[in-house]
Amino acid sequence: MKIGFFDSGIGGLTVLKKVVNTFKGHHYFYFGDTLNVPYGSKPIEKIINILKELFHFYEENGIDIVVAACNTSDSLILRNYIDIRKYNFNYISILENAVSQINERDKVLLLATENTVRTGTYRELLVSKKATVNEIACPLFVPLIEEGIWHGPIAESIVNFYLKNQKSYDKIILGCTHYPILDKHIKKVVKGNIIDPADGIVETLKNYISIKNDNPKIDFYVSGNINKFIHNTERILGKNTFDISYKNLVLGESGVIPW
Ligand code: DGL
Repeated sequence: MKIGFFDSGIGGLTVLKKVVNTFKGHHYFYFGDTLNVPYGSKPIEKIINILKELFHFYEENGIDIVVAACNTSDSLILRNYIDIRKYNFNYISILENAVSQINERDKVLLLATENTVRTGTYRELLVSKKATVNEIACPLFVPLIEEGIWHGPIAESIVNFYLKNQKSYDKIILGCTHYPILDKHIKKVVKGNIIDPADGIVETLKNYISIKNDNPKIDFYVSGNINKFIHNTERILGKNTFDISYKNLVLGESGVIPW
């Protein structure tokens, strides 16, 4: 099967990694829009235009399933900024797969981008669980992670900056796919069970795809600096035998010269 992923940058690799390690020998596509990262503080019209072009590209490539590996985009799609039903692929929402891991009346801390918090989409979905929610936008996390600074005093102090006054929660939703890269630091500062929406996605995908034992094939499409993306991707996916290709793809900005 052909399974497509998308994110503003390397964050969605935290989802791709769990899916590829579970289902193995399918053909995966991943769009990392590093030219436009972060989506969390970009005008939403820009994000929508890019996503529409991407979905068209995925349709033309015969993708069977598209996985939202970006909460910011999904929080807009669930608000119907794009009519996702009109495309030929099945669409897997990341927000729904995060909320499916929440129990009734849980005390929840949602960590997400500014745009995700502003849409209120998580808040609305969590109403069905009668959960109490505290939301914190952490806009410095994404640039930090894209720069490859995942450990050490800078990462620790930025996590502290946003979270030091938080006490304890039943669940902490990592509502941005970049954030699992900082989960060790987050765990040190706030008490609560960490929810990685990617785990819900893996469960949901079991209804759509089989586990294959062949070698996975991954085609990466990157809008920004490919070498930087390759470096970070190798750190996240680790040593593997996957059949991987990297290509440049710029969307929503016709006429822009790629790096
Ligand atoms: N990783 C994305 C998300 O899950 C986008 C983060 C960003 O670009 O601000 O929201």
